[in-house]
Amino acid sequence: MLITPSRDKLNKIVVLNPKGGCGKSTLATNIAACYARRGPQPTIMDYDPQGSTIAWLNRRPADMPSIHGIAAYKKSMQATRSWQLRIPEDTLNLVIDSPASINHDDLRELTRDSSSILVPVLPSPLDIDAASKCIADLLLVAKVNRNEGKLAVIANRTRKNTKSFGRLMRFLDSLGIPIIAVLRDSQNFVRAAERGLGMHDMQPSRVRPDVEQVDKIVGWLDGWEARRRRAVQLNALRRQPSANVTAFRKPQVRSV
Ligand SMILES: Nc1ncnc2c1ncn2[C@@H]1O[C@H](COP(=O)(O)OP(=O)(O)OP(=O)(O)O)[C@@H](O)[C@H]1O
Ligand SMILES: [Mg+2]
Repeated sequence: MLITPSRDKLNKIVVLNPKGGCGKSTLATNIAACYARRGPQPTIMDYDPQGSTIAWLNRRPADMPSIHGIAAYKKSMQATRSWQLRIPEDTLNLVIDSPASINHDDLRELTRDSSSILVPVLPSPLDIDAASKCIADLLLVAKVNRNEGKLAVIANRTRKNTKSFGRLMRFLDSLGIPIIAVLRDSQNFVRAAERGLGMHDMQPSRVRPDVEQVDKIVGWLDGWEARRRRAVQLNALRRQPSANVTAFRKPQVRSV
């Protein structure tokens, strides 16, 4: 079974969707690269035995803003598990990349004490089916409460004005979970991944629309403490039978 760290004041971001190839590692590395540029040094944990995120970090040029990497999928014989998974004291933002096909116990453990859970979804019908199962598991198995506002979806590898894009957006809309960004299908992501870079490390004129979307994601992630406070207020209100809870309900944000 997986073990994940938790600590006060830690922005624990989990990128998750058991469907293979939907963009989890792409999203995790781009978020980490954005935080690295802003500082302090973020930590990225790779729970996927494929180790693609750690391989990305190993390709990262030495002159790029640094990211602390933890190969959480490796079981070290020399160190205790908690020592192996320790995160540096100055890490404020921890990005967790998860494996495809994950069991229920691991799903609960990965999402425990998380501040944000991001689910990337591709436009194909198979991916849409897999995403609805993933969201159902998050709500019913991992008991992620919608009202906590920690769950968001990201449309990935989209091509505007295609039927599949329309179908994906209608599906995501129907979930009642915020769609915080729409990443286009672009070789920029492939090229950056090959070089251990994120959109924020690339030449700005080539990646402007992609940087904009990554900024939207990070902007949403940065609001985790406010979202948590709101959820506590909302829960307290819900416990009062006469309370007007709707007064606290924020309109669903749909930014495309
Ligand atoms: N927006 C995008 N545009 C173009 N290519 C993309 C985009 N997002 C991801 N890709 C490419 O799609 C492939 C799968 O992406 P990625 O490895 O991030 O998915 P994953 O969910 O982590 O896969 P796995 O489940 O195997 O870990 C990679 O080759 C990646 O470069
Ligand atoms: Mg991956």
